[in-house]
Amino acid sequence: MSANAWRFETMVIHGAQAPQEWQAATLSPIYQTAAHRFETAEELSEVFAGRKPGFIYQRLRNPTNETLERRLALLEGGKAAVVTSSGMAAIANAVLSICRAGDEFVSANSLFMSTYLLFTNVLAKFGVQARLVETADLDAWRAAVNERTKLLFVETIGNPKLDVPRIRSLAELAHAHSAPLIVDNTLATPYLFRPIEHGADIVVHSTTKYLNGHGSAVGGVVIDAGRFPWPEEKYPDFKPFKERRGELAFIDKLWREIHVNIGTCQAPFHSYLTLIGLDTLAVRMQRHLANAMQLARFLSGHPRVRWVNYPGLETSSAHAVALEQFGGKGFGALLTFGLQDERACFELIRRLKLVYHLANLGDCKTLIIHPWSSQYVAFTEEAKRANGISPELLRVSVGIEAIEDIMEDFDQALRHC
Ligand SMILES: Cc1ncc(COP(=O)(O)O)c(C=O)c1O
Repeated sequence: MSANAWRFETMVIHGAQAPQEWQAATLSPIYQTAAHRFETAEELSEVFAGRKPGFIYQRLRNPTNETLERRLALLEGGKAAVVTSSGMAAIANAVLSICRAGDEFVSANSLFMSTYLLFTNVLAKFGVQARLVETADLDAWRAAVNERTKLLFVETIGNPKLDVPRIRSLAELAHAHSAPLIVDNTLATPYLFRPIEHGADIVVHSTTKYLNGHGSAVGGVVIDAGRFPWPEEKYPDFKPFKERRGELAFIDKLWREIHVNIGTCQAPFHSYLTLIGLDTLAVRMQRHLANAMQLARFLSGHPRVRWVNYPGLETSSAHAVALEQFGGKGFGALLTFGLQDERACFELIRRLKLVYHLANLGDCKTLIIHPWSSQYVAFTEEAKRANGISPELLRVSVGIEAIEDIMEDFDQALRHC
């Protein structure tokens, strides 16, 4: 039976594994080497020229990394992938592979904070202009996209606004203007949603989060659906890559031109940790999603809580799209809620006993953060509010502990707020 015929829960464990290449080991070895030795100069030359497959140097390719690339491409329904040193490296590499000075692209305004800063500050310094639009407002996207738009970028579930764009509509809009759609699928994971099946051309992830699942390694991935035609009039730079790799022109360009030369390789040990974590993605996500729904309901009914934002609640403006798009499977495992003020938020954090206070998400453990005073502390008040952050807001990444224990911990801490 081929891996593509398996259900997701089986594919995530058995798909794209190659024990026959690893002395029948059930896990990929960690190929912890900077370089690979060649017997002859002729052979090394053949591999450098791309006429023969082979591993040369870790910054270029590594066998452990390649196993993770194959498994993640399979899970997202893509044709090829490149793993990177972080989620931010994956996003930067994807945009830099497509845009050059003088280009513009259109992005949702609901973005992870470093993505927001990359788009609005860093890329602008290199002459690449990001136009940010209201994520769920399709008319705003239509007004911003034009023939010069080189790509569209969106998060499946915006972090931390938790809005949910209609991916198929954005893909259609992008394609009508001969541009690819890039989706950051970190918060949904391919267990909940597979953007390529809804028309996306490129998927990126911070593998640091649910794919790894244990907060043990920072990493990222870029996955190419291998379908976007890269028309020559609009993307002349793609010509040699199309000639070399055909439908895989994008991932080839990203790898050859950006990834290798900037040096955004993932450490093989990090890939190994993520490979182990990946085996349990489906069961972890089932539990994350169920726990998040229950915690959202519990907090909504709590007298000390002013409001809760979670796409699974009917009060969320993202609810209808999330329900349809994710097929009733769940709504992600991130939620935000409001207390009376910043002081109450700090007190809650101080009083929590089980829940960890830290800047990450997608761990087995339930995590909390007060974004206004931490990740967004250097932002202007206007930029904080534009990113959906307010002083009374807390963000929770719901873990997979017993939900009763999570709720009891919030309940005992909320009594002091
Ligand atoms: C949606 C999203 N994308 C990208 C990133 C960046 O990932 P990394 O921290 O692995 O660079 C994050 C990090 O929190 C994220 O939440």
